[in-house]
Amino acid sequence: MTTVALKDVTKVFKDGTLAVDKVNLDVTDGEFMVLLGPSGCGKSTVLRMVAGLEDPTSGAVLLNGELANDLPPRERGVAMVFQDFALYPHMSVNENIAFPLRLAGLEPDRRGERVADVASALGIGDVLARKPSQLSGGQRQRVAMGRAIVRRPGLFLMDEPLSNLDSGLRAELRAEISGLTRELGVTTVYVTHDQAEALTMADRVAIMRKGVLQDVGTPTQVYGRPATLYVAAFLGSPRMNLLEASVYVHLDRYVTLTLGEQALYLPWNDIRTRAVAHYHGERIVVGMRAEALTPVSPDSPGDVLQGRIRYLEHHGHESLAFLDIGATAVVVDEMGSGPVETPESGQRGLRRFGQVMQRFAGRSGGENEDEDGPRGGTRTSVLHDPGRHHRRPAELAVRLAPYPAVSSGHPMAVQVRMDALHFFDERGDRIDVGWR
Ligand SMILES: Nc1ncnc2c1ncn2[C@@H]1O[C@H](COP(=O)(O)OP(=O)(O)OP(=O)(O)O)[C@@H](O)[C@H]1O
Ligand SMILES: [Mg+2]
Repeated sequence: MTTVALKDVTKVFKDGTLAVDKVNLDVTDGEFMVLLGPSGCGKSTVLRMVAGLEDPTSGAVLLNGELANDLPPRERGVAMVFQDFALYPHMSVNENIAFPLRLAGLEPDRRGERVADVASALGIGDVLARKPSQLSGGQRQRVAMGRAIVRRPGLFLMDEPLSNLDSGLRAELRAEISGLTRELGVTTVYVTHDQAEALTMADRVAIMRKGVLQDVGTPTQVYGRPATLYVAAFLGSPRMNLLEASVYVHLDRYVTLTLGEQALYLPWNDIRTRAVAHYHGERIVVGMRAEALTPVSPDSPGDVLQGRIRYLEHHGHESLAFLDIGATAVVVDEMGSGPVETPESGQRGLRRFGQVMQRFAGRSGGENEDEDGPRGGTRTSVLHDPGRHHRRPAELAVRLAPYPAVSSGHPMAVQVRMDALHFFDERGDRIDVGWR
């Protein structure tokens, strides 16, 4: 029905803000594309340029292969749903959904049929006579969706449509929205800052940072082979462990990755070893997700890291242990503009931490909502603090069975799945071969 292509699209606002920086993105017909990134990274601006509500400063927006830069919004065949959906308060649900059809001059009988179809698909068939004030938040959002869908747009643009809803309802509507758009075959661009939402809903995810597109791929691709350190840090819960490692090459034998007092060895026959070997004598970042780590007995042979539990988090279905392994963690700055944090800048750091906490309050999304244990705040600061790639003692996140018989201070050893490691250079680019 509709394809979207962005070619080197840039948006500089009048005040000089560079909101979108040379973004190239193709959305195929019927695809569910999710634009993901933190607040202020330019997601809404991209969406608004596709809708025609904002003009690109340079670059081209193509709809169905045709240049659309000068096409008025009405002629783009798009429907948009926002976070702050506005329903007409004096109209019933029925009239709200039917409104675009009335504008389009559709006769009442046909309108009735279309509204009934859409309402039943959205599970609001029984509240058609009510006014918006008599609906729950979730029902109101469904009505807003219904009003957008009923016109049968070729392209659906949704800007954080679920962020005002509680997490249970959000999960439910997530599944409904992706189910519905796929059933209708409507090309959809969906904006969210919630990585869990993105990974569960998307055919492909496009991850943005400070106006720049960082990575595009299926959820499996961007999660499994993140293009940059930033993408690696942004996706997944718990977040990927990112450790500073020194590289030392033992030619034709192995490459040593030194993590504090401990080391891991990449065998020479591992195809990734050659790429990492280029960094002989330098420091790189090694990424390991919790699923790459398995607790083992301390005297186990092989690729094992020894640590001590600093604290535990219980999530009901699992517990997470955070291990001190005497290594250094690399902290990825979420917004990217701040300088490196130093102890002297602690005061400012704290103030920013407060702002960041406010910005991210209630935004962790999905499963990780109950993460804020006694140490939750500290951990959030690690990931959202604006210092650029700064360092701190590593707390290695390890998955355990629920409520394990261990506690803080206990020693713990973990086996590392070497084939599941990720490597990044100091600029945050993936060190890899066989690039996807
Ligand atoms: N009209 C405007 N004039 C100047 N700057 C703007 C304007 N609209 C947005 N910006 C800036 O452009 C950048 C990108 O904004 P945008 O709304 O696209 O971000 P976003 O990713 O949608 O964030 P959020 O998740 O908070 O909605 C921000 O720095 C924002 O302050
Ligand atoms: Mg936005």
